[in-house]
Amino acid sequence: MSYLKEKEREVENILKELGYEMDVQILPSSKKELGDFQINTAMQLAKIYHKNPFDIATEIIEKLGNDFEKVNIARPGFINFTFNSNSLINYFNEVKTDFSKLIDKQDEKTIILDYGGANAAKALHVGHMRSANIGEALNRLCKILGIHTISDVHLGDLGRQAGMLISEIKLREPSLAFFDPNYQGEYPKVSYTPKNLGEMYVAANIAASNDPKRMDEVRNITALIDKGDKRYLALWKQLVDISSTSIKQVYDRLNCKFDLWEGELDSFKDVPKMLEVLKPYLYESNGAMVMDVKFESDTKEMPPLIVIKQDGATIYATRDLATIYSRMKRFNPNEIWYVVDSRQSLYFEQIFRASYKSKLVKEDTKLYHLGFGTINGRDGKPYKTRDGGVMELSSLISLIKEVIEPKIKEEITGSEREDIAEKLTIATLKYADLMSNRMTDYIFDEVKFSSFDGKTGPYLLYTGVRLKSILSKVEKKDYQISDISNIEVKNILLKLLELSKVLNRSYLEKSLNYITDFLFELCSLFNKFYNNNSVLKEKNEDIKNSYIALLELVYQVLANLLNVLAIDMVDRM
Ligand code: ARG
Repeated sequence: MSYLKEKEREVENILKELGYEMDVQILPSSKKELGDFQINTAMQLAKIYHKNPFDIATEIIEKLGNDFEKVNIARPGFINFTFNSNSLINYFNEVKTDFSKLIDKQDEKTIILDYGGANAAKALHVGHMRSANIGEALNRLCKILGIHTISDVHLGDLGRQAGMLISEIKLREPSLAFFDPNYQGEYPKVSYTPKNLGEMYVAANIAASNDPKRMDEVRNITALIDKGDKRYLALWKQLVDISSTSIKQVYDRLNCKFDLWEGELDSFKDVPKMLEVLKPYLYESNGAMVMDVKFESDTKEMPPLIVIKQDGATIYATRDLATIYSRMKRFNPNEIWYVVDSRQSLYFEQIFRASYKSKLVKEDTKLYHLGFGTINGRDGKPYKTRDGGVMELSSLISLIKEVIEPKIKEEITGSEREDIAEKLTIATLKYADLMSNRMTDYIFDEVKFSSFDGKTGPYLLYTGVRLKSILSKVEKKDYQISDISNIEVKNILLKLLELSKVLNRSYLEKSLNYITDFLFELCSLFNKFYNNNSVLKEKNEDIKNSYIALLELVYQVLANLLNVLAIDMVDRM
């Protein structure tokens, strides 16, 4: 249990003894001259129990144990205090050997996280990066809070792009077995590269938008795949695999690790079973099968959800519903989180309502759409390339790398330089992407975000380099914190006390900005300490050892939190 939680429990027990019932929060004090922390519970209790808050505060402080020092009450009933230094020192030395003492876990449960969502045979764009960065970090956050998670990329592997590509291949290589309706044998292996697919997709797109006949063919092929046409499905699955290798490479660069690499095609087998569950609620409308998902209390428009199209084909929604069916059957999760662009919020609202209404999920299964804002350019509009096109993720990565690379020390060369440039680039992107509240749009400023100073990924990595460099110069032994009389040391430890709340708040609000803020504050406090104190040259051996122990602790926290954000550290830069 974290130190603050333990102390909060202590105070809660005191309240019980006094005949009150209330959760207690220990907060950093807003008036530091009165103490490091404050408790505001007396005011809340006063309202409920119709008493004077000062009297309640007085009753409480009479029972506080020895770990609470310099206790005082400020009117109307704020309890201010400071923790006993030895008690803090003991706690942090325990943390050094058992990191879990720093973090309060959540109740055990299983959460499926659906993020990534790249589309096969199409380039990832910057929106996919947000889903990947936020989703991966939430996944790792859940894990350190003791939650069992299953991550699924939910690849968009069926759509118009299938028809586009196959129509183009048909044009270029009409003699391939896939295009012979009478072909009986095994289908050949095609040998395109992801780059070929990209080029063919562009060509097909241009042709189809200028030629209605070609567009009909594209639609026709897409529909045939949906119906399970053996020839086209065999070809398309190969194309999906080819494209997946390059999609995987991008996710690897972003440190995204998916437990399940499944997609819309994988849900096909579950469509009939899902429809069986939805059947009592489906009705025909203009030839399509739809479901009402309106509530009487709705104030906004809530159109019926189309489950099967007029031509009998499945759509995005069909596949999501079938996927929910499969996830419930296989994993019986307590929650499913969808980290997908906010623009899909109406869609997810419909899907969720349909799932609860038809009992595709249990009453207490929690389905969340975790939307996110867009990444804008300096003009406030969605981030575009210089010539106004959609910004592909790989172009954005290259752009940042160009800004970062020249900043790395000259003496670092070759593959090490390349590796460091890559890590700094990803750190820049991730930190920028996670630091604003999930729902807000933000302006992408490559110069500001890649700075080695300020609220940036590189600043955190730089702090890590500094810590590591000092620690590499000291003899290996079991260092203990023994002295926190230095205010800069104490401030670091007080910040660390907040960590558990920061993590749990991030989890509850499903937004990583509390963690990015915490990291920045921690690094700033450490750098301030470092600039004003010399660790290695400290004459007093006890103080020096205590400093080293503190540095080890800060490094450990930094490493663990960067790992939650899926940011890799570097040894120099
Ligand atoms: N492929 C979709 C897109 O690019 C995102 C998929 C999100 N996940 C889901 N289960 N619908 O918009």
